[in-house]
Amino acid sequence: MGRVQDKVCLVTGGAAGMGREHVLLLAEEGARIVLTDLNEEAGKATVDEVKGMGGEAIFVKHDVASEDDWLMVVDAAVEAFGKIDVLVNNAGVLVLKSIQETTAEDWDFVNNINTKGSFFGVKHVLPAMEKAGGGSIINISSIYGIAGAPSASAYQASKGAVRTFTKSAAVEYASYNIRVNSVHPGVIATSMTAEIVADPAATDAMLGGAIIRRPAEPKEVSWGVLFLASDESSYMTGSELVIDGGYTAT
Ligand SMILES: NC(=O)c1ccc[n+]([C@@H]2O[C@H](COP(=O)([O-])OP(=O)(O)OC[C@H]3O[C@@H](n4cnc5c(N)ncnc54)[C@H](O)[C@@H]3O)[C@@H](O)[C@H]2O)c1
Repeated sequence: MGRVQDKVCLVTGGAAGMGREHVLLLAEEGARIVLTDLNEEAGKATVDEVKGMGGEAIFVKHDVASEDDWLMVVDAAVEAFGKIDVLVNNAGVLVLKSIQETTAEDWDFVNNINTKGSFFGVKHVLPAMEKAGGGSIINISSIYGIAGAPSASAYQASKGAVRTFTKSAAVEYASYNIRVNSVHPGVIATSMTAEIVADPAATDAMLGGAIIRRPAEPKEVSWGVLFLASDESSYMTGSELVIDGGYTAT
């Protein structure tokens, strides 16, 4: 208990899937939560859950691809809690299409949310983190930001960009005492993968060479996010935390 006591943690896409689990675990460990998402109903329900546990949380409706929204979210967080210590750039979308099927619109949709959304987050939390004397930024990439797979080119490009952008931010923000790391989940059972996980053959194919032959539960990634949010990871920056059941080991 208390591994992130009183830290203000901003989690994007916190209404569902892994983001929701990150919110619940961070709150359990003492964090004050700013949960943002496009999905207002589910976001507010998760905030109520945190409050029901005795925690503190606010919901802000937010499209991570909108720079204006980011300015509004940072203002709302600082107004509610006075600072931002941790940013989890979690919101993301997946389009599974071959390169030939991928349209310019698909490419922009995925990259505007996954890549530009993470860039806006890093850029616009800087003043608040600087004021707080430092912070930890956690960018959610993927194994698809490391290794190739069929039919996910726009997504892979976006997650590869998040991976190297993380290193660039780590170098640039070191002088502000801000650590920036990326997390690379493997196949995780969320709404993003629900159709695949419902089909054993598709699951097996998606697991590729993973040594642990099952999709992970969202919380198995949240433990890594908690570690990076906490001071336990104080010597880590520009790093890649891979949580993939051995997918990239083979
Ligand atoms: N599920 C997996 O197997 C897997 C694997 C590796 C990486 N990831 C990454 O982990 C992150 C979370 O994925 P998930 O599986 O929990 O997804 P999910 O689809 O279950 O949840 C994503 C959440 O993000 C929100 N969201 C979508 N677009 C948004 C936007 N423009 N602005 C704000 N919120 C938005 C959705 O409303 C939803 O609540 C994503 O970045 C994803 O790419 C997922």
